[in-house]
Amino acid sequence: MSQDYTFLKACRGERTDYTPVWLMRQAGRYLPQYMEVRRKVSFLELCKTPELAAEVTIQPIDYLNADAAILFSDILTPVEPMGLKLDFVPGPVFENPVRTAADIEALRIPQVEEDVPYVYETIRILRRELDGRVPLIGFGGAPFTLACYMVEGKGSKDFAQIKRMMYGAPELYAALMEKVTEMDRLYLNAQVAAGAQAIQIFDTWGGIVSPLDYEKFILPYTRKLIAGLDKSVPIIHFVKGAGTMLDKVKLAGSDVVGLDWHVNLGAARDILGADVAVQGNLDPTVLYAPKEHIRTEVKRILDENAGRPGHIFNLGHGILPTVAPEHAKYMVECVHELSGK
Ligand code: CP3
Repeated sequence: MSQDYTFLKACRGERTDYTPVWLMRQAGRYLPQYMEVRRKVSFLELCKTPELAAEVTIQPIDYLNADAAILFSDILTPVEPMGLKLDFVPGPVFENPVRTAADIEALRIPQVEEDVPYVYETIRILRRELDGRVPLIGFGGAPFTLACYMVEGKGSKDFAQIKRMMYGAPELYAALMEKVTEMDRLYLNAQVAAGAQAIQIFDTWGGIVSPLDYEKFILPYTRKLIAGLDKSVPIIHFVKGAGTMLDKVKLAGSDVVGLDWHVNLGAARDILGADVAVQGNLDPTVLYAPKEHIRTEVKRILDENAGRPGHIFNLGHGILPTVAPEHAKYMVECVHELSGK
């Protein structure tokens, strides 16, 4: 049954009746119905309360008519039980970032079902509530993006700490990446076991290095992660800022490659080849534009794809919190209408 979902067919590169669409970060602050739930609980409490996390996961399905739901959680939830104290203020902050050999040694590999049971409980609730409607995407951070937050302790502009470790203490960097990759493998495979029907790996910071350093310091771990994942569901791999190294991103081995808006989708498909599906790639700020412009841009991207099978429409990064919900809904409508739904 779930094998017939348009989104899953597109992930597998099969021809579909129309182009499926969802939005990265589609559950969140741009939706008044999300803010209503959020007023009562903190972001972390929301992630840790399965009934509420399931409720906000479904909000954009009801409102936007998106073709897939994405689990409501955060890429950093499974890092907490590795031994780091996590807070959101509202960006993520770790009180005790990882800097030394002793810090890395002390990181534990979580018992995922016991340490983050709420993630799996949310997935089980969602499969019951969504079944027959849309498939459910589980997700995690790529090892490198997780390591960035663990070492920096918070978001960063120059990533000085992780780069000091990567270039100055490569053996520490490798030891950290091995542990994070193993945690990720367990965390994501347990999501599939709980019912996730696709997995998206977010490498938000994978594009902050040169193509050669991507190949040396990031790709080996993402490739190892993907090789260790349950292949009964499609894997989507999104590396922000990877337009100049898509040939290398392909080597990580995902079924679908997520594209940001700095590449032309048609040119990216030429590089990636017909055996990989793509997801993307509308500039998230286009949702601030008047509706006619949103429609023009949706059409341009569909035209770039030129009818090739295996395209999932999405933004090129997460939806911004100050976007008008109506514009996001209109974008989904345009994708459906212009692709023949
Ligand atoms: O896509 C979805 O709707 C599912 C939920 C989801 C969240 N975070 C919820 C969230 C997903 C898939 C993520 C992924 C995530 N988290 C990434 C990768 C994707 C990306 O956007 O690059 C990253 C880097 C994080 C880490 C993170 N979490 C940051 C940097 C922030 C602060 C910035 C921000 O957007 O507020 C968060 C907080 C966060 N994660 C919020 C939500 C809805 C906002 C929390 C709030 O309600 O205040």
